[in-house]
Amino acid sequence: MAEHSGTRKHPKRTSSVLVVLAALARAFRWLLMRAAATLDGGFGTPDAAAGLGTGRFGQYTLHEKIGEGGMGVVFRATHALLGRPAAVKLLAGGHGSREQLARFEREAELTSRLSHPNTVAVYDFGRTAAGTPFYAMEYLDGLDLQSLVELHGPQDARRVAHLLAQLAGALAEAHGMGLVHRDVKPANVMLCERGGSHDVVKVLDFGLTKELGVSAENDGAEDDRVIGTPLYLPPEAILSPERVDARSDLYAVGALGYFLLTGEPPFVGGSLAEVCAQHLHAAPVPPSRRGIRNVPPGLEALLLRCLAKSPEQRPESAAALRAALLELAARWTEAAARVWWAQHGCVESHRSPRLLESTSRVAQAPTLLPALAG
Ligand SMILES: Nc1ncnc2c1ncn2[C@@H]1O[C@H](COP(=O)(O)OP(=O)(O)O)[C@@H](O)[C@H]1O
Ligand SMILES: [Mg+2]
Repeated sequence: MAEHSGTRKHPKRTSSVLVVLAALARAFRWLLMRAAATLDGGFGTPDAAAGLGTGRFGQYTLHEKIGEGGMGVVFRATHALLGRPAAVKLLAGGHGSREQLARFEREAELTSRLSHPNTVAVYDFGRTAAGTPFYAMEYLDGLDLQSLVELHGPQDARRVAHLLAQLAGALAEAHGMGLVHRDVKPANVMLCERGGSHDVVKVLDFGLTKELGVSAENDGAEDDRVIGTPLYLPPEAILSPERVDARSDLYAVGALGYFLLTGEPPFVGGSLAEVCAQHLHAAPVPPSRRGIRNVPPGLEALLLRCLAKSPEQRPESAAALRAALLELAARWTEAAARVWWAQHGCVESHRSPRLLESTSRVAQAPTLLPALAG
């Protein structure tokens, strides 16, 4: 029978848990150091960034803040000459460390290489007179998938398949170019109306992307560190980050789909250690056994395959996953999406201060953690 929670007393498992616990102590120390740097003004705060965000950024006039994550702050903006709406992202605090600045520039450069319709389009990269780097991208007048579930609860299974198929399509392009996103999570995927289509997915935040076949010094991503958000971390990212590949993103897609369907990530816990131990050892409870009704067995089986501990047991590629999802998504129609947006599409309500405050700390936790392994 499947094991659903925690770890049993087993020598091998106990030693992996010890490895995780030892590493957590280092992670905690690192987080404390980062907090201290913030107090020093070294890393800065979103409020400091909000101060920076007034006025002109290159050709862009900044308006209100529309989002923030572990690293950046995003403002609604308008191109001064074209009048075109845009979103401008800058590092939280404006001036980061050299590593953060390099990572930020790399994020803009990598994203601009991608042209899939389900990946956010980058328009421009620039620096303010004070040298603060920023990039402008298409403005998405919708909500991210974290907010979708927080505001509107678990989603219809047909819609989940429809959204995940688009996400898998965007990842297929990135993977085909040797890029692994490494931070697929609900807050990094937007849902919006675009060009008359409802329920269009856009993948964001390629800040932690790894370039396969490029050495760690050259790709600007530190492979000796565990990268990603704990709730969506594949086991190999916890134990041996250098083994992360395209299939690691598929694990996160499975975890994200599980969250959309049930309203909860597959593994939750009171601490980083508990969550990581479950990614390593616990079998996820099938959504249908969590009281979620009308889950197509095919979708459940596919999500659980994505969540396989061993990358070999996951779908072979993002393209294969997309093909399987498209079959399951066929019953989610444009008409059904239009009805949802007519009932819930008041964008202002997606951006209330309540929403920003309610976003869970774990979901918004820093996405870069020091090495957990060895
Ligand atoms: N182009 C955009 N249009 C509208 N909202 C956006 C856009 N890009 C990001 N956001 C919002 O800002 C939040 C943070 O952006 P993100 O790029 O993920 O920053 P970070 O690197 O700090 O995690 C997202 O979760 C989303 O809600
Ligand atoms: Mg993000």
